[in-house]
Order: sequence, then structure tokens, then C-alpha cells
Amino acid sequence: MLDASRFYFPLPMTEHDIYRPVYHFTPPANFINDPNGLVFYRGEYHLFYQHNPFGDTWGHMSWGHAVSRDLVRWDHLPVALAEEDDVMIFSGSAAVDWRNTSGFGRGAEPPLVAAYTGHSQAEQTQCLAYSLDAGRTWTKYAGNPVIAIGSREFRDPKIFWHAATGRWIMATVLADLHRVRFYGSADLRRWELLSEFGPAGAQEGVWECPELFPLAVEGTAGESRWVLKVDIGCHPQRGGCYGQYFVGDFDGVRFVADQPADLVLHMDAGADFYAAQAWNDLPPLDDRRLWLAWMSNWRYANQTPTAPWRGAMTLPRSLALRRFDEGIRLIQRPVAELRSLRGAHFGRAGLKTEAANRQLQAAGLQGDALEIIADFRLPAATAEVGLRVRVGRDEATVIGYDSAKQQMFVDRTRSGRCDFAPGFGERHVVALPAPNGRVRLHVYVDRCSVEVFGGGGRSVITDLIFPHPDSTGLEIYSAGDEALVERLDVWRLEAR
Ligand code: FRU
Repeated sequence: MLDASRFYFPLPMTEHDIYRPVYHFTPPANFINDPNGLVFYRGEYHLFYQHNPFGDTWGHMSWGHAVSRDLVRWDHLPVALAEEDDVMIFSGSAAVDWRNTSGFGRGAEPPLVAAYTGHSQAEQTQCLAYSLDAGRTWTKYAGNPVIAIGSREFRDPKIFWHAATGRWIMATVLADLHRVRFYGSADLRRWELLSEFGPAGAQEGVWECPELFPLAVEGTAGESRWVLKVDIGCHPQRGGCYGQYFVGDFDGVRFVADQPADLVLHMDAGADFYAAQAWNDLPPLDDRRLWLAWMSNWRYANQTPTAPWRGAMTLPRSLALRRFDEGIRLIQRPVAELRSLRGAHFGRAGLKTEAANRQLQAAGLQGDALEIIADFRLPAATAEVGLRVRVGRDEATVIGYDSAKQQMFVDRTRSGRCDFAPGFGERHVVALPAPNGRVRLHVYVDRCSVEVFGGGGRSVITDLIFPHPDSTGLEIYSAGDEALVERLDVWRLEAR
């Protein structure tokens, strides 16, 4: 069992721990995958996560635990739900049972209730646990499982309170059948099957980690739609795992997608954004919908060259919908709380790329933990513009925009260590229009990752990279005719 002592990160960097992020969440030690049980309660954002407390590869799955008051600095807590009697604690969610519908509460303290998948050799079932002390200790419900259908591919319950119908909803997957199953309950203990969604969209791998929530459509007078997110596991012929989402309507019983059944929408075109989950019970005055994801990929999750930990979370992102010519699409923006990390700053406006780069070099603002916002104005002729980050020792990660193809990309082919898994050194691209010849790249660089938000969060790429710790260079470039850098801001990010 993990040492129960609490400590704050960043943890000291040892020679074996050169990739420990400055400001992304990592466990103190050992393996993690999906975020679980994201819930806000009494000033704290809870982050549980799939965790092997005993080793640095997948196994003995339990729920690790951390809390934060600002979504940026995390306080590590002991394992919350541990594997027991050969039943592993697979992914799931948590909610505050404000009305004590479950009866788990005592006195005035509402219970926090977690719904997770109990995984055994024989079966996957949906189970409950509850906490009466703000998530510090958890009791597995004596009546577990609450849903058992005799399936080995039935998992990842996401629960939330559906105010319009006054009951709890649970979304789960029949993973190998590519179906999301919705259940309803008055008390979290007895569940009734409501409906199924799927197959639809991408189906090469198993469906995992469903997520469902309403979101306002920005720029409209109160229009809102529901988003159903489902992840797709690895398929041997296809390479890695990734996520997809559907936009539609959920009436408390059934989800109906607006889009044709064969359209696949991705929320992130990088390799390292999987199993995203949104927080339940954000404070009433905070009307944001926030999520984060596991920043790795099953293709190489057990081999990434980090120690003593393996696996990290992406930055928390705020979500919105916006209508484009092609339909309503998801927008992701890094949460505003991240601004508290900003340290030394470089800012310039109205320079050509070469001049901007010269001034950037002269200012010496570089590093392994940076935030960069670059507004480019593209020349009339086709061009490529962008940034090279973590530059040094014959390596660089290229983050760019190709105006001919109207694509944003991250190229990690020469980003540093790529040898630990075949095919890691690759390039990821995503469509991004440049209205009026303008494009904005908003980039977060950390010790082993880049997260790139293009066009105000319409196109996103999240990629792990493993550069040498000395590779801290930052360059701005253009190929073809020079582009204008309308505005460039760079901050060094520091966890304080
Ligand atoms: C997704 C997943 C889930 C499962 C968990 C097990 O990454 O495969 O479907 O609950 O990981 O660790």
C-alpha cells in the first residue's frame, strides 16, 4: 500500500526522474491510467485515478487519490479504494448525494458516492462505495454489485444527477458491442435499464469510459446540446487508442445524436488524451464544465521511460460548444487557474517571424515548462509557420501550421527518446481553418508533454515527448514566405 504521508508536488527531481512534469499531475510513484471519481466537494476538486500501488506497469487496479483547491496544485492522499479478494477497482465516477437518496449519509453530512466497476476474472459489475468524511476514507457498499449482467465487458459507470427527471443516471459501456447503456435510479442502489446508444462512429476497438453532459452553444440565445463522449481502445491493426464524441439530445432516458452514425468527431488529435472525465458537482456559481484526461496511450503506456512514476494527467480544460458551417463542435480551453503558474514573461507585437525569433533568442526566454500564445498572420503564398520547443542536442518538437493544407500539427519524430515503443516518433495533424489568414497557437510545454490549442480550442493536440532535460530551446519559424507575428507571448511556468 502506498505510504499514507502527504506531500506536495513538484517532488524533487532526481537523476532518474528527469521527466517529472512541473505542473501536470503525476502520482508520487507507480502506474496510473484513467482519471476517476472527479467530484467537487467543500472547496476541493477530487481526482481519483486508476492506479497500481505496487508497480510501474498496469495491475492491481485501485483508485489513487489527490485533491486540489485550484486545479493546479495537488495534494496526494492515500489509496482510496483498493483491490480486494481478486476484485480490481476499475474506472468509475463519484457524486455528492446531496439529498441522501442512497441513505448512506449520517446526520447533516451528505455522502460522497463512488460508482466503479468491480473487475474479476469471471465478470465486470457495477459497484458502489461511499465516504462520510469528504472523501478521506471509503466504505464499499455491502450490497455490491448493484448491477450485474453476466458480462466480462461491462464497465466504467459515469453517474450524475439528472435534475429534469429528478433521478440518477448512469452511463456504462458494453465494451465489445460498442454500446453505451443508460440506467436510471432513485437511490443509487437499484438501477433500471433505460436505453442503449450505438454502435455508431468509430468502432475499431472496444468502447470505454462514457461521459455525458449538457453544454451551452456559445453565441446562441440559450441553446444547449448534450455531449456523449466514448473512448475507443487499441486495435492491433490501427495502433493507439483515442476518444470520440457525439453531439445530440438526452431526455433523461435516451441519447439521440444529431450527427450521421458514421461521422467520427475527435476532441483531441494527439496520441495522449484518453478516458477524459468531467467533474461532478462544481460549485453552483461556477457554470463551467471541466474535464481532464489520462495523458498516455495504451499503445505504449507500460513502456514510457519515466520513473518512479508512470502516467500523467492532461491539463484541466473548460468545455463549450460552438456552431460552425459543418455543425456544432466541442471547444476546449485550458482553465484560467493555470495563469497562476505564469512567471517570467516575453511579449512582442507586429514582428516578422525572423525578427521575432531574434528577439526571443536575445531575451533568452526558454525552458522546459512554458506557455506560449502566438498569433500569426499568414502570407498570401502558402507557408508553414510555427514553433520549435524543447530544442537542443539535435532534437526538437515542432508545433506548426501548414497554410496549404489548413492543418495544425505536432511533429515528435525528433522530439527526444522515441526508442521505447515502435512508432512513437510520429506526426499528428488536425484540420484548422485560418479565417482572414490568421491563426493562433496556444501551447503548453512541460518536461514530457506538449498540449496545443488551435483556433481558440477548436483543434487540440496533446502529445507526450521525452527530450533531454537540457533541451530547453524555443524558436519561432516560418518556411516559405515570412509570416507576421501579430502577437507573441511566452511565460515560464513555475509551480509555486
Ligand atoms: C480505459 C480502461 C477502462 C477500465 C480501466 C482499467 O483505459 O481500460 O475501460 O475500467 O482502463 O484500468
